[in-house]
Order: sequence, then structure tokens, then C-alpha cells
Amino acid sequence: MLHAETKRVKVALITGASGGIGASVSKTFSAKGYVIIAHYGSRTSKANEVARDIEASGGICYLVSSDLSTDTGVSDLIDRVKKILSENPTYHLSTLINNAAKLLSPSFAETEYSDFDSYIAVNTKAPFFLTQGLIENMSTGACIVNVSSASAHFSSPGDITYAISKAALESLTRNLAELLAPRGIRVNAVIPGFTDNGHPGFDKKPVLEYMSTFSVLGGVSEPETVADAIFFLASDKSKRTTGTFLDVSGGSILGARAGRKHSVKELL
Ligand SMILES: NC(=O)c1ccc[n+]([C@@H]2O[C@H](COP(=O)([O-])OP(=O)(O)OC[C@H]3O[C@@H](n4cnc5c(N)ncnc54)[C@H](OP(=O)(O)O)[C@@H]3O)[C@@H](O)[C@H]2O)c1
Repeated sequence: MLHAETKRVKVALITGASGGIGASVSKTFSAKGYVIIAHYGSRTSKANEVARDIEASGGICYLVSSDLSTDTGVSDLIDRVKKILSENPTYHLSTLINNAAKLLSPSFAETEYSDFDSYIAVNTKAPFFLTQGLIENMSTGACIVNVSSASAHFSSPGDITYAISKAALESLTRNLAELLAPRGIRVNAVIPGFTDNGHPGFDKKPVLEYMSTFSVLGGVSEPETVADAIFFLASDKSKRTTGTFLDVSGGSILGARAGRKHSVKELL
């Protein structure tokens, strides 16, 4: 007797899917055949737009809203993802993309205890506990991609708590890569620099010129470029890659700045 083959359907959970990068990542993974669980915080209209775009292209998108600055928001997201998976036995959680973040933190002098706690909660603690809560739903071949930032690689006193939160996320990436390797689960991160996420600042020439000085390639990134890098890290093309960091910041982490001399020798 022939047994009907059960088709396993790949699911990608993307946090922060209502944002510029998360929206693009959601559409990229959907176009590659993944069922999308698109998490968002408070921008329901942006999240609805993402779901509409995906469904218009023939994809499947579940929207889940939760506040990742709170422990209950994180556990609620875990519960809702598990519910979707249990109601659809062919689904398996193939990729977790920890993308949601609070950006542009206050300066060192202006940072309050509550600011520090909320940046760390959303940017570091939520990826930690989301992974802990969902790992039992992931099996060999699954992977996690964390979205870091170039800010983790140089001093950014103007955004100090944000920079610290992303440096900690990279440490989490390394540690989880070793911990989860025996289960065949890879953990990597991408490092975007300034990326046009639709914030009105990207339409202002002086702002854009300032941001452009960070990248040795000049300019800022498009969300699609970050999404493609994340997809690469989630795909079998990177099956021997774990615990690493893919720069999509146009070389911002090289620490060079426009107008800089290449060596003090040029001044001697
Ligand atoms: N854009 C850049 O220049 C840049 C540079 C380096 C790294 N990155 C990284 O790229 C990732 C995506 O950034 P983006 O540029 O796409 O930012 P964005 O457009 O501001 O989107 C941020 C996303 O995070 C969600 N979020 C924020 N706080 C949350 C909370 N408390 N609970 C739940 N969700 C929350 C937002 O949800 P709602 O809006 O629905 O509340 C939104 O979906 C982040 O990890 C960021 O650090 C961005």
C-alpha cells in the first residue's frame, strides 16, 4: 500500500514585520514559498499592508501583534506561534528572524533606567526568550537570523543603549550557534548600517549626506538588500555557516569616514 507523502511546509517567523526591513524580509521569504508569521508592535495598518501584499501574490501570512518590551508580550507571541503550528500539522518552524527593535536611543546623559530597560528588553531579551520558547518547535535544518547593527561595531555615544543592545545580540548569536549546533540548527546575524526603512529622515538631504559618510561604498542600504542577505543565511547555500555576521552596511563597520586619509604617511 502506498502512503501519501506528508508535505512539510516551511514557516518563517519575522518579528517587526511592520517596519521597513521586516516588511521586505516577509515578502522575500513569502516569494520563496514560506508561510509567513509576521509579528508587529503597534502599527496595524503597516502590518495589514504587508499581509495584503503577500496574499495578493498568492502567499500565506498570519499577523500577530505583541509588545516585545514586556515578558507577557514575548510569551504571548510564543503561545500564538505554537497555536498556528499545532493547528497546521504540515507546518514546521524553519526560520526565526529576530528583527524587531527600538532604534535611536537617547544619549548617555539623557538615558533613564526605564529607557535602558526597554531597549535591552526589545532588542536583546526578546530574541533570547523567543528563541528559548520556540526552539522545541525547530528541528535539524532550521535556523535563526538575528538583525544586528553596525552600531555594535564602533562607538555611538549618541545611541549608546541601542549600540549596547546590539553588541549583546551578537554575543547571543555566537553562544546560541554553539549551543544549537548539536541539533543541526544554525544561528547567524546580519549587520545593516543605515537602511531606508521609510522614516522621513531618509528624504532629507543633510540627513542622507551624514548617513552616507559611514559607508565606504557611500549611500544607504535598501531593505531588499538586507532581506536578500537574511535569506542567504537561512538557505541551504549557507549550510556550513553558523555563528557568523554578514555585513550589509556598505562597509560601515570598517570604521572609515569620508575624507579620512588612508595613512598618517600622507600627512608627513
Ligand atoms: N534602518 C536602519 O538604518 C537600521 C540600521 C541598522 C540596523 N537596523 C536594524 O534592522 C532591524 C529593523 O529595523 P527597521 O529599520 O526596519 O526599523 P523600523 O522600521 O523602525 O521597524 C521596527 C520594527 O520593530 C517593531 N518594534 C519596535 N518596538 C517594539 C516593541 N516594543 N514590541 C514589538 N515590536 C516592536 C516595530 O513594530 P511597530 O512599528 O508595529 O510598533 C517595527 O515592526 C532592527 O533590528 C534595527 O535595529 C536598522
